[in-house]
Amino acid sequence: MNDIDRAAEVLRRGGLVAIPTETVYGLGADASNDAAVKKVFAAKRRPETHPLIVHIATRAQLGAWAASVPPLAARLAERFWPGPLTLLLPKAAGVSGVVTGGRGTVGLRVPDHPLTLGLLGKFGGGIAAPSANRFGSVSPTTAEDVRAELGADVDFVLDGGPCRVGVESTIVDLSGDEPVILRPGGVTREDLERAAGRAIPLHAAGGPAIAPGMHPSHYAPRAKVFLTTDAELVDVAQDLVWQNYKVAILATRDPGPLPEAAYLLRVPEDLDEFARGLYAALREADNRGCDAIVTALPVEEGMGLAIADRLRRAAGPRGE
Ligand code: TXA
Ligand code: MG
Repeated sequence: MNDIDRAAEVLRRGGLVAIPTETVYGLGADASNDAAVKKVFAAKRRPETHPLIVHIATRAQLGAWAASVPPLAARLAERFWPGPLTLLLPKAAGVSGVVTGGRGTVGLRVPDHPLTLGLLGKFGGGIAAPSANRFGSVSPTTAEDVRAELGADVDFVLDGGPCRVGVESTIVDLSGDEPVILRPGGVTREDLERAAGRAIPLHAAGGPAIAPGMHPSHYAPRAKVFLTTDAELVDVAQDLVWQNYKVAILATRDPGPLPEAAYLLRVPEDLDEFARGLYAALREADNRGCDAIVTALPVEEGMGLAIADRLRRAAGPRGE
């Protein structure tokens, strides 16, 4: 039995499979099996009101999950699927409220990874999958990350190597009168707007939390994250060292002479590569025992928008 057969088998009997996608690894269950989906919430320690994205094999399946498919949804699906875009649409009558956290909408996407596309084809149904991390922490971008984070709580890890995009999908809410970007991600706002032929506003942070993953504290490493400017990286790090923090500086360039006991985590300046390595860098800081990460936000263009969003949330207030 190959890995895809095994994974399909686990899904059929209501188990949990970690699936590789181009964005991050997901913790998957049969989306039409409520008991299996509940195990996902339990393994993640995630509140059951936070809905899960349903991963499907092709856009031809959209109609089975969504009550209606507006022309803009069809156009975006055609342009970006398989790919890092999640569409929120009114859910079809048969879609369980367990997956949607009791909401009337369902998040749908066709992920762009050969193993998971193979699994979706073999399995036939939808796979409900949030990122395969514990609630609030950094998403896993390798199979090893998943095993380290979830251990025995996952029945099978489909190892598809490191994730190509590195941050989660862009979520666009198409269930209201006007489209809204609820979470910037792997499809850039520029590409999305070009394909849509119109502007698509970003959901205003601080407004009502339409997507629960938009809570200010999310995507967070154990270490506290401090945001500053490129010019102030070393000064802020020095200050934290004096306060007895073990500090990592996350930077795209050499920030100059480091304070003693501060550690430099270099990330690539190219924004696509930065995104690809972002979560690994945050995990590395944790693994090195750092308790503070000092960084500056990139320009918020292209993938810079998603990177800045995740860094802000990582730096957000904890403990909600
Ligand atoms: O790239 C991704 O999107 C990854 C991979 C595995 O596909 N998945 C992912 O799932 O990031 P998750 O659950 O970690 O983040 C999805 C976010 C959550 O904040 C969830 O609350 C929100 O999307 N969401 C999903 N369905 C929703 C719905 N029907 N209404 C509002 N928010 C929804
Ligand atoms: Mg997540």
